[in-house]
Amino acid sequence: MTGFDPNTSFSLKDKVIIVTGGGTGIGKVYSQRMAEGGAKVVLADIAAEASDKHAADIRAAGHQAISIPTDISDEKAVQEMADKVIAEWRRIDGLVNNASMMSVLERRDWWKIDVAEWDRVMEVNLRGIFVCCRAVYPHMKAQGGGRIVNISSGRFWTGSPNRLHYSTSKAGVLGLTRSLASELGDDNIGVNSITPGFTLSETQLATSSSNYVTGRDQGRCFKRPQTPDDLVGAVMFLLSDASSFITGQALNVDGGQAFH
Ligand SMILES: NC(=O)c1ccc[n+]([C@@H]2O[C@H](COP(=O)([O-])OP(=O)(O)OC[C@H]3O[C@@H](n4cnc5c(N)ncnc54)[C@H](O)[C@@H]3O)[C@@H](O)[C@H]2O)c1
Repeated sequence: MTGFDPNTSFSLKDKVIIVTGGGTGIGKVYSQRMAEGGAKVVLADIAAEASDKHAADIRAAGHQAISIPTDISDEKAVQEMADKVIAEWRRIDGLVNNASMMSVLERRDWWKIDVAEWDRVMEVNLRGIFVCCRAVYPHMKAQGGGRIVNISSGRFWTGSPNRLHYSTSKAGVLGLTRSLASELGDDNIGVNSITPGFTLSETQLATSSSNYVTGRDQGRCFKRPQTPDDLVGAVMFLLSDASSFITGQALNVDGGQAFH
């Protein structure tokens, strides 16, 4: 059993954290803030150029980050990514399964989604998480523990229309989180998820019409736009020792839109 230290238990200092999709959008903010907090951050994003640049910017600011461009739907690439992390930093303390196909998906009626696109979304958004968890598992187990945070979506609570494949994949993330948590408890590995509300990431802004964005704050207790920084605290908490007895949970971060 570990004790609680108010000076260190919330800290990620020197923890090795992988952030999939850590080079753009919300993941870019997670990786930056964690590095600013002293973590050794791995950006595992398919967007190689953006990811390499972001890692270089973090290093230039005096923090620790490496970019290992990875397609999480490619099992071999994910294994190679984990191997490189171990070669570089010898351990893996945390995994944030943030990468997903979202902003690249057109919003359209469910029956206009073709099967190939449905399959690709499941391949990345669900199978990708499974493959990433499997790649880090032996290392976390050997170290005596670790923390996994899966990024789901508030769509699970609200049943939002359009992007049915995406919504379904994010519901699957919650099921995966619960069942994996129950399998990993004996290895002292915590597995939790967060469900963000509509968040103005750079990619969301670039792909959403102003009509779609307007008025989305009104259903919240806090009637203002949600930004990536609104999610950082929840993710860092679930990676930290301060949350070490929390597992299998879904933490809703949406300014009080859905009550869970
Ligand atoms: N922005 C929102 O409103 C919102 C709301 C709820 C949940 N989320 C979730 O939060 C996370 C980040 O959201 P975002 O707004 O930055 O989304 P986004 O679609 O802009 O970014 C996803 C990230 O994943 C990466 N990626 C995509 N496919 C990949 C693959 N095969 N392998 C590795 N990386 C891949 C992208 O390059 C990008 O960096 C996603 O999981 C998203 O589903 C976002």
